[in-house]
Amino acid sequence: MYAPRIPRHVTLRHLLRLARRPIPVFTELLNRYGDNFIQEVGGSRTTHFTRDAEVARHVLQRNHRNYEKSEIQTGQMGKYLGYGLLTNSGDDWLRQRRLIQPGFHRQRLAALTGEMQGVIETECARVAGSGPVDLFSFTRQVAFRIIVRALFTDGFGEADTRRLHYILDKLQAYIIYPIRLPFLRGPLRWLGQEARHLRLAAESRQLIRDHIHQRNHGSRGPAPKDDLLQMLLDSRYEDTGEGMDEQRLIDEILILFAAGYETSANALAWTIWLLLRHPHELAQLQQSPDPDYLTQVIEESMRLYPPAWITDRVALDTDEAGGFTLDAGVTIGVFIYGIHHSPRYYDAPEEFRPARMHPNRKRERHPFSFIPFGGGPRQCIGNHFAMLEMQLLLGHLLRHYDITSAGPLPDLEPKPFVTLHQDRPVTVRITPRSAKT
Ligand code: HEM
Repeated sequence: MYAPRIPRHVTLRHLLRLARRPIPVFTELLNRYGDNFIQEVGGSRTTHFTRDAEVARHVLQRNHRNYEKSEIQTGQMGKYLGYGLLTNSGDDWLRQRRLIQPGFHRQRLAALTGEMQGVIETECARVAGSGPVDLFSFTRQVAFRIIVRALFTDGFGEADTRRLHYILDKLQAYIIYPIRLPFLRGPLRWLGQEARHLRLAAESRQLIRDHIHQRNHGSRGPAPKDDLLQMLLDSRYEDTGEGMDEQRLIDEILILFAAGYETSANALAWTIWLLLRHPHELAQLQQSPDPDYLTQVIEESMRLYPPAWITDRVALDTDEAGGFTLDAGVTIGVFIYGIHHSPRYYDAPEEFRPARMHPNRKRERHPFSFIPFGGGPRQCIGNHFAMLEMQLLLGHLLRHYDITSAGPLPDLEPKPFVTLHQDRPVTVRITPRSAKT
């Protein structure tokens, strides 16, 4: 059985709104046509769109070999960010994943806790008492500096850190246009935007290359043992016993940067905004910052506002998933946001209820009803890293600072870029606890 097909005139009618506000449009269509529907995107590409956890599980996990990432991820993102884990595919992806995975194991990451904590203390102290702070700029700054430190514990230099951050922000903001509005690809090229962003991407690669050379030539002193760069430099392929070549290494590092800070920064900004909206939960955490409850708060925040709000795959052969036929060549849009907001899996899905993320209650639900980090073999490699940094930052803020909204707290709508942004700025004050008493 095929999922209902949306009439072409309906798709055409929604095209502009879809580009501007995809989440409400997809939600409307899903409410009308069911948890699965088929749509011709851009007149040619056929997409099976789903907020069905069983279809997601089948595609991402059960029969993952039949599904590859689409050209959006491997082509459009890869063009600017290189071909690291996130943008790679097939056997080459598997070989890289096997090589890199050990560096992200929980025990291995424990060695980076002190480095992360150091960044968090410095960044919180820097903004504390300095007047109103833009929330997303603050969380972006912390998350970016954490990933820089995790990769280069011997330092990346202030000027290079700022430049790389600037470039990656520019690239993330730009990439969405050729993806969301493919007809703009030509004009963006003619207007020189493509070349400008490719130059920025090349500059970021050069910055990373310089630091790898410094590490290899010992010009920053003895190599640190536990950082991510050293792990990547020391890792060897099982079959050849050799390490990655420099080009590869740069690709993988650039992807870790790109995949690893905006997502976490996003989740942190939503979590802080949710806590400001729910003073009872905030007070509870400030009185006793129980890490288990904090995990539930973070997870409930990522349920409501999953930073990676959608992902996709292309079917290699015709297949059946959750009772639906997926033809060879069809793109499957896994609407993570839609799954997380579905009344099929959650009572009062729009409400912030951290207790529903208690492990016992999670076990009662479909395992793919909560997939902020994706699922199956291509699940986020940085999931433990992200949870650790979010726990550490929120734990530190809640223990040592008061965080309040500077002015009335705005109502927010999610605004989907590559990650799920807030649609307007939130300004907060971060004040050391002792300064109040
Ligand atoms: C809250 C924070 C984060 C969220 C919500 C998130 C989400 C995701 C999702 C959903 C995927 C799978 C995409 C797909 O299947 O198409 C993914 C993949 C990936 N993430 Fe994350 N991520 C986060 C943080 C991080 C961090 C901190 C790093 C690195 C330090 C990272 C590195 C990656 C990489 C390299 C991949 C590709 C993995 C592969 O295909 O083998 N992510 N992430």
